[in-house]
Amino acid sequence: MTNNKVAVVTGGAQGIGFKISERLFNDGFNVAIVDYNEQGAQQAAQQLSSDGSRAIAIKADVANRDDVFNAVRQTVEHFGDFHVIVNNAGLGPMTPIDSITPEQFEKVYGVNVAGVLWGIQAAHEQFKQLNHGGKIINATSQAGVEGNAGLSLYSSTKFAVRGLTQVAARDLAHEGITVNAFAPGIVNTPMMESIAKSTAEEAGQPEEWGWQQFSSQIALGRLSEPEDVSNVVGFLAGKDSDYITGQTIIVDGGMRFH
Ligand SMILES: NC(=O)c1ccc[n+]([C@@H]2O[C@H](COP(=O)([O-])OP(=O)(O)OC[C@H]3O[C@@H](n4cnc5c(N)ncnc54)[C@H](O)[C@@H]3O)[C@@H](O)[C@H]2O)c1
Repeated sequence: MTNNKVAVVTGGAQGIGFKISERLFNDGFNVAIVDYNEQGAQQAAQQLSSDGSRAIAIKADVANRDDVFNAVRQTVEHFGDFHVIVNNAGLGPMTPIDSITPEQFEKVYGVNVAGVLWGIQAAHEQFKQLNHGGKIINATSQAGVEGNAGLSLYSSTKFAVRGLTQVAARDLAHEGITVNAFAPGIVNTPMMESIAKSTAEEAGQPEEWGWQQFSSQIALGRLSEPEDVSNVVGFLAGKDSDYITGQTIIVDGGMRFH
């Protein structure tokens, strides 16, 4: 099935980004999986479309503006059109306040904030050239809605993503472009595994304890699977969300109520 629409998903090689790519692919989108893990992106694209006709892999570091512009341009050249970008790539290291270095600041802000901004700009450039609107969807987090202990850089970058989302929604609405964000809770992915492990290690506790520090606040009583998040992104990428812009949809099983 194809709906003749084209989506770019950054950080699509694994975790939530892969499930988003799969969901959009199943919804009929042709998908460009953009990731700095080239091999992972290629495997992911092949898993979706074994003959490569409807899913491609593009190597890019989202912190590098030229890389992101090239990736979106390449997508348009390949598929001939472009409708949705999901700025999903992100980093989430534990960063106790006193441990943060300028290098770490640059790195996390470079990927989580600049990466989203470059994605917005690159998508806008192509939407203008194609002379139609589109949808921009950004990854924030429940940690971007309420500060999370030990996550100064991660939480503050995810607050910034909500800010960028709101401003871009206002700035681009007259061009038929909507801009929204999704805020996952505690999702069972390699990123969350490393956060849970380092939380436990620092406290001298087993890994299970690390997961519990985050999962004890979930009203629905279970961790999130990546599909919980990709379901919401499927909605934000589709026409049922056409009258929504500037919003962050929290998909966290009931951790933060706003
Ligand atoms: N896992 C969670 O519990 C959780 C919760 C809230 C928000 N999120 C957000 O969801 C998004 C995806 O998280 P995840 O858990 O799937 O992460 P993950 O670490 O499992 O996967 C991230 C993917 O992004 C890619 N990536 C990282 N930096 C990149 C860069 N500079 N350029 C290109 N690709 C890059 C990685 O190679 C990887 O394929 C992130 O923005 C994250 O902050 C995750």
